Amino acid sequence: MEMEQLIMKERIFVTRQIPDEGLIQIQAKFDTIVWDKDEPPSKPEIISGAKGCSGLVTLLSDPIDSDLMDSLPSLKVIAQYAVGYDNIDIMSATERNIVVTNTPGILTETTADLTWALILSACRRIPEADKYVRNGNWKIAWGPKMLLGRDIYDSTLGILGMGRIGSAVARRAAGFSMKILYHSRSRNEEIEMKLGARRTNLDKLLRNSDIVTIHVPLADDTRGMIGMHEMRKMKRSAILVNTSRGPVIDESALIKALESGLIAGAGLDVYSEEPIPRESALLKLNNVVLAPHIGSASVDTRAKMAEMCAANLIAALHGKTPPNIVNPEVNKNE
Ligand code: GLV
Ligand code: GLV
Repeated sequence: MEMEQLIMKERIFVTRQIPDEGLIQIQAKFDTIVWDKDEPPSKPEIISGAKGCSGLVTLLSDPIDSDLMDSLPSLKVIAQYAVGYDNIDIMSATERNIVVTNTPGILTETTADLTWALILSACRRIPEADKYVRNGNWKIAWGPKMLLGRDIYDSTLGILGMGRIGSAVARRAAGFSMKILYHSRSRNEEIEMKLGARRTNLDKLLRNSDIVTIHVPLADDTRGMIGMHEMRKMKRSAILVNTSRGPVIDESALIKALESGLIAGAGLDVYSEEPIPRESALLKLNNVVLAPHIGSASVDTRAKMAEMCAANLIAALHGKTPPNIVNPEVNKNE
């Protein structure tokens, strides 16, 4: 029996304990090794753990480069448990006939919700207000100038990247009667028609928005897209929100902009380095709301992501084209 299983079942290495909804399906079909620590495995730990594996389930914090792929010659599929996959060298995977998949779509609404949580928190200074109450600073019942924030309703929202998440953020803006500007590679006519959103260049968007929110993937052309030059164009009263990838913003420039009042505030879920270093100047600033990369972190969405990730992995190892393949050109190499 054991012998038979070893012969029949392909091996999978899962780099972290993902929700059971997906893990159980993987375990039912494959000889599955799960990295069971909370700390992510290092590259050598992935290589030794995944020796002989046909499949890898990865997180966005696992750097999957050509070296690692060369150390795992039996690898056929990398099933990423995330929508973003900038941690994976896709070109190297394709060259080695390794299928890469991700989990798009299902986390769109959850990430848009979190984006709004950051917009609201940053504009109305909710974390500061919460600390104020807890720390016993609320000594006068009602202060005419206590914790004044910025209006969201009737203001202008600038969306960088009108993909799935950007559009979901835009739809929510309708409830706040906002004007919507967007800058995106392609036009989104539906959002223009339904919400009156206007497509502009980056310069106009930065100059005219009260809130700028980023929803582009991290790539060569988006890395450092928002630096000092761009923040100088923003209103001094503006709020910058990022739930995409940290390196899209030049973080040291952002720190300077927040310290000097060049922009009014920020709401961040992602950073140039994650976890954020203890000595980061961001931790000392009151005008930034910080979340620990929890855009997709709802119970239901994480379960659906696990199911989707498992379905992709299973399809790929059964020789089918997985529903969410990132490198469809892979098959053409054969
Ligand atoms: C989260 O950041 C993701 O890409 O899914
Ligand atoms: C991600 O799913 C996006 O397209 O915004």
